[in-house]
Amino acid sequence: MIKNKLFIVTISISAFVAIGMKLPYHHSENLKVLPKDISDAKLDSMMQSYTAALGVQCSFCHTPAQNTDSLDYVSDTNPMKDNARGMMKMVIDINKTYFYFDKNTKPEYLNVIHCKTCHKGEPIPPTQ
Ligand code: HEC
Ligand code: HEC
Repeated sequence: MIKNKLFIVTISISAFVAIGMKLPYHHSENLKVLPKDISDAKLDSMMQSYTAALGVQCSFCHTPAQNTDSLDYVSDTNPMKDNARGMMKMVIDINKTYFYFDKNTKPEYLNVIHCKTCHKGEPIPPTQ
């Protein structure tokens, strides 16, 4: 009996530690457009590409977190985030409809037409 309890406690602690250790690296809690199984490295590189394409910082789309200097990436309170989601859907759609020839790549990851194609480093694309 005592052994059993010890076993359960040990399992619980291991599970807790496993979840606890995973949390800080799991960055896909509120994805509505990108694949939910996206790797952190891929998510990070896509976010970096948005900032470069629009010539902005992460805070252009992401809300400041309460009580820290950091940003709350999960929050949707910055309306620019939903603007960006619309653009992401458009880009996925264009690539999928007109350029989607590699069936082994998720259309979300196709990089034929991308933000930079139009934005050229500006939040509002230059018209000339
Ligand atoms: C042009 C707007 C834009 C910029 C700039 C931007 N992001 Fe994002 N970010 C988004 C959108 C939109 C989503 C949600 C994507 C979805 O719904 O699939 C997102 C999601 C995320 C998430 C996942 C949050 C979650 O749901 O768990 C992280 C982490 C993140 N961004 C980090 C960054 C970092 C770091 C930067 C700066 C290098 C950055 N973002 C710059 C628009 C932006
Ligand atoms: C086919 C051209 C095109 C592509 C590709 C494109 N955009 Fe845009 N985007 C525009 C135009 C034009 C505007 C300004 C007009 C508007 O807001 O409707 C704009 C506006 C925006 C805005 C609003 C800026 C503001 O200050 O109001 C955001 C955010 C944005 N784009 C993000 C993105 C992201 C992120 C990508 C890549 C996933 C992307 N765009 C790809 C053409 C494009």
